[in-house]
Amino acid sequence: MERLQKVIAQAGITSRRKAEQLIIEGKVKVNGQVVRELGVKVTPNKDEIEVEGVPIDREEPVYYLLYKPSGVISSVSDDKGRTVVTDFLEIEQRIFPVGRLDYDTSGLILLTNDGEFANMLMHPKFKIEKVYVAKVKGIPSREALKKLQYGVMLEDGKTAPAKVKVMSIDKKKQTSIIQLTIHEGRNRQVRRMFDAIDHPVLKLKREQYSFLNLRGLNPGDARTLKPIEVKHLRELAVTKPS
Ligand code: URA
Repeated sequence: MERLQKVIAQAGITSRRKAEQLIIEGKVKVNGQVVRELGVKVTPNKDEIEVEGVPIDREEPVYYLLYKPSGVISSVSDDKGRTVVTDFLEIEQRIFPVGRLDYDTSGLILLTNDGEFANMLMHPKFKIEKVYVAKVKGIPSREALKKLQYGVMLEDGKTAPAKVKVMSIDKKKQTSIIQLTIHEGRNRQVRRMFDAIDHPVLKLKREQYSFLNLRGLNPGDARTLKPIEVKHLRELAVTKPS
C-alpha cells in the first residue's frame, strides 16, 4: 500500500505537491469515490485511481540522462513548436525533465516519469552539486571571482558559496572560460551570478549533475540511467539534508 499522492506523482501526472492539491480539491477518485484526505493509502495496479476523470496507468518508472543541445526547451511541449527535450527520446512513457536548463544552455539534464524522484532531486534542501562551464565576456578579476565564491547578492537573495575555477583566458578575444560549481537551482542562476560581477555569459553548459557527467555523449544523445545510479541519487537525497 502506498500513499495516494505518491502513486499519482509516480504515474508522471504531476508533482506530489500538486497531487495533494488535487486531492484536497476533490479531483481524485479511488474506486469511483472522491477522496479528499491526504493520508489515504492505495494498492497500485489494483485500486482504480482517476485524476480529473482520467484513470491513471501506473507506468514502469524510467530514468534518462540527456545531453541537451542549446536551442532546446526544457519542457514536454512548446506552443511555438520549438524543439523540446522529450523530442530526443522516442519512448512510450510520459517523461518530463528534472528541473530545467535555459533554452540557450546545453548539457546534462535528467528525464523521468517518476514524479517522486524528480521532486526529491529538485527539493532545495537536497544539495545536489551541479558543475557548469561558462564562457564569459572579459577577464574577471580575483575580487570578482571571490564574490562568486563567497556569494553574490541577486534580487532573490545572496547565493550560497560556490566553487570557481578559471579554465582558460583568451586575452585577444577578451573572454574567459570559468567552471562554476553550485548546489542551488534558482532560475537562470549562473547567468545572473556572472551578470552580477559584470561578466555576462556568452555560452553555458552543465557538465555534471552530482556524480553524473556527459562522458561518451554528444549533444542530442541520451542514455538510460543504470539502476545503481538511480539508487545512488536516491541515497544522496536521503543522506544529505541540510
Ligand atoms: N543557470 C543558468 O543561468 N542557466 C541554466 O540553464 C542553468 C543554470
